[in-house]
Amino acid sequence: MGGDLLVKNGRIVTPWSVREADILIRDGVIERVGRDLNADGAEVLDARGLLILPGGVDEHVHMREPGLTHKEDFASGTMAAAAGGITTILEMPNTVPPVESVRELRRKRELLRERAYVDFGLYGVLHDGNVDELAGMWEEGAAGFKVFLGPTTGNLPAPSDSTLYEAMALAARHGFTLAFHAENRGLVEYFTEKVRGEGRRDYEAHADSRPSICEEEAVSRLMIFARRTGAKTLIVHVSARETVELLREAKARGLKVWGETCPHYLLLTREAHKKYGSLVKVNPPLRDEEDRRSLWKALKDDVIRTIGSDHAPHTPEEKSGDIWNAQAGFIGVETILPIMLDAALRGVISIRKVVSLISYWPSRIFGLYPRKGSLEVGGDGDLVIIDPGAETRIVAERLHSKHKLTPFDGLSLRGKIRYTVLRGRVVAEDGEVVEEKPMGEPVSPLRR
Ligand code: DOR
Ligand code: ZN
Repeated sequence: MGGDLLVKNGRIVTPWSVREADILIRDGVIERVGRDLNADGAEVLDARGLLILPGGVDEHVHMREPGLTHKEDFASGTMAAAAGGITTILEMPNTVPPVESVRELRRKRELLRERAYVDFGLYGVLHDGNVDELAGMWEEGAAGFKVFLGPTTGNLPAPSDSTLYEAMALAARHGFTLAFHAENRGLVEYFTEKVRGEGRRDYEAHADSRPSICEEEAVSRLMIFARRTGAKTLIVHVSARETVELLREAKARGLKVWGETCPHYLLLTREAHKKYGSLVKVNPPLRDEEDRRSLWKALKDDVIRTIGSDHAPHTPEEKSGDIWNAQAGFIGVETILPIMLDAALRGVISIRKVVSLISYWPSRIFGLYPRKGSLEVGGDGDLVIIDPGAETRIVAERLHSKHKLTPFDGLSLRGKIRYTVLRGRVVAEDGEVVEEKPMGEPVSPLRR
């Protein structure tokens, strides 16, 4: 169901260059990139003065369907993605029931297929009881597998070391990627008990219940497993400076260990609890200014390769009240690209780096490149078209998620997403979804 579209006179941005070129999309696929292209019957979009980036690939979202649709559903979540310039999402498996078998993977894919406004891949989960399912789920088209080493939403139990080793050996053999929530469960439990035992109820108690040693320990262990097995290993939501140092080492040693961070760790510190209370409770927790700075430096040094939103919606009731009972996480898929564009337009990082972080690397890490996250001939015609001279104001009420709580409400940002194009069709314009019928399709890694 792809469209025919000629985008003329824009400046196209890749991780390597910014140059003026037209892009011709035919049947949803990029057919030509060059100067003075002819439409030959295709719809024409004049992009003079605008930047054209590959559609964003957000490898870390929780759209909550099935089972938790009071928090979000696949239609509202993928509309938010489309409005925010994200054309491919990889959906996490901590839905209900969890995606732990070939059967559940198929079921979830069929359920979501009719409700997707952007393309989507599905993670399976690894736990102690399902390592035998991984190869089958991979065959069936799973995007990769998520491993929760620490406790969080869904309370999926962490796998034992032997299961972990077996799964990572399998990952190396088959070529799939494992994405890790890297916090040491035992340490999280220890510190939580300690801090709660002190009777603390202030919002920052949550941060103290999961100090950075929890993340550092888990990541250093994973580096050993990754080195010994050769598994492609993505550490999601990196929050701590100690982890950045470990990733620097992993890079120097040529390990296939990559890091993802999220806008909230780049923009906020634990101080944000003073203003937002439990809204900004998230796992892992917000940390200190020094951590925040080290994450920005890691982006500049190519030590952290990708940014995911960790879009984790909950209802206002679930987010409010007591810090211990409030749910962790908040929405982000609609604001991730605007926030990173702003950083580029302010000169903090380059616009090429934004493409590298939000399109190129996520797509590479999950074997979707060059079909997704690229402007290569033969790739899907997924684009996000940006006016660098305009401004965006984030207004929570106008976001597309079911529940609108975000610490980024009211932010004024440089740049504005004018159009989101999914396989040659404009699906969103000026922050509104214009494609009435959901046209998203499942995507699976390309196997070599
Ligand atoms: O804060 C979080 N919320 N961190 C996670 O790892 C999971 C997420 C969720 O699913 O709510
Ligand atoms: Zn997550």
